[in-house]
Amino acid sequence: MSSRQDDRTTQCKRTTRRLVTLIGVLAAGNFFSYLLFFILWQPSQFVEVRGTSSSIGFLPYVKDSMLSLSTIDSNIEWRQPYLHEDVLARQLGDLDSDTPFPIFRGDPDLYTYEVLRKFPHDPSAFTQGLLFRPPDTLFESTGAFGGPSTLREVDLVTGTVRKQVELPGIYFAEGLTYHDDKLLQIFWRNNTGIYYDPKTFKSLGTFQTPLSDGWGISVVDDSLVVSDSSTELHFIQPSTKDEGTLRLLHSKTIRDGNTKIRFANELETVKGEIWANVLERECVMRINSKTGEVVGWINLSGLSHNLDRGTLRPGVLNGIAYDAEGDRIFLTGKNWANLFQVRIIRENRTSLDTVRHICHPANSLPQYGYP
Ligand SMILES: *[C@@H]1O[C@H](CO)[C@@H](O)[C@H](O)[C@H]1NC(C)=O
Ligand SMILES: *[C@@H]1O[C@H](CO)[C@@H](O)[C@H](O)[C@H]1NC(C)=O
Ligand SMILES: *[C@@H]1O[C@H](CO)[C@@H](O)[C@H](O)[C@H]1NC(C)=O
Repeated sequence: MSSRQDDRTTQCKRTTRRLVTLIGVLAAGNFFSYLLFFILWQPSQFVEVRGTSSSIGFLPYVKDSMLSLSTIDSNIEWRQPYLHEDVLARQLGDLDSDTPFPIFRGDPDLYTYEVLRKFPHDPSAFTQGLLFRPPDTLFESTGAFGGPSTLREVDLVTGTVRKQVELPGIYFAEGLTYHDDKLLQIFWRNNTGIYYDPKTFKSLGTFQTPLSDGWGISVVDDSLVVSDSSTELHFIQPSTKDEGTLRLLHSKTIRDGNTKIRFANELETVKGEIWANVLERECVMRINSKTGEVVGWINLSGLSHNLDRGTLRPGVLNGIAYDAEGDRIFLTGKNWANLFQVRIIRENRTSLDTVRHICHPANSLPQYGYP
């Protein structure tokens, strides 16, 4: 926390700089000599300001996650910092360092992948939720049309189902996560969820989410984060004292630039980011969990071409699991005969527009009842 004294000191420094600025403006006369003056005088304090009427701002200052800039027409502008501005402001030390920064980076970064290892996976598993627990366990939630959904414990290396429970037909299982030594499973088109003991798979009770649908679920900073076919990520308090409706803390719209992104399906938390695969797309988006912004697209086109011959026709990519200790990413799909450990690689050759074209979801999915 910065004290009031620190604030005053900062204000004082800023006032001094503004004074220097003003003298500079008066002395320099026109824009270009003014620019030159500042480049020579305070080169480290120049940042480029994109997307505003003024093209240059200076004296960057970050507080409460917002960037303050003095613009060329002497206005003070507050907004979210772009990555390089944030870095610059940090270098200058002119920031409230205890604040976590939701950084707007401009365009999302693009990534491709490399398959590092291929594991067997039950091709009859219509995978909906996936998570890894050390040393070698996957917990998986499978849905089924006209058959029982399951919760299962799977051996990562052999793909063997060590244990499973079948659910009553009214439940179509979706996302699965681990919190407070419990597994939490949610369901399609239902606001009910079930807590399980991960060792015995005994039900420890039910809960209600404040949503009408359940798709993916993960945990970020001790809150549940849930997708529900909309463009929102919902942050929900994980438990209540009694069995009841969990509290909605807030929702963040998933945005890639100005486009709202619908149909985030399976969710996984990877180093503070939320990773989500888009339903019916061979793409994973990396989402800033503080802002909902898509900060990266992983083009996974062709991943399913690496599949062994399964007994069924493979469905769409679905299921991301992260091993935080080993920093390993696992991916699979519905009825895939394999699960892949992949390495995610920065991709600089393709254009963002092309990636957006292949990765952005459909506007509607009427075949699943989402007009
Ligand atoms: C959700 O599941 C419960 C059973 O736990 C059922 O009674 C209820 O009708 C379901 N709701 C919907 C919208 O299907
Ligand atoms: C892409 O750019 C990043 C950042 O500049 C760099 O680290 C990476 O090596 C580049 N990747 C390729 C495949 O050129
Ligand atoms: C997506 O990845 C595939 C396989 O690596 C590649 O062939 C394709 O060109 C990529 N598409 C884009 C838009 O980057």
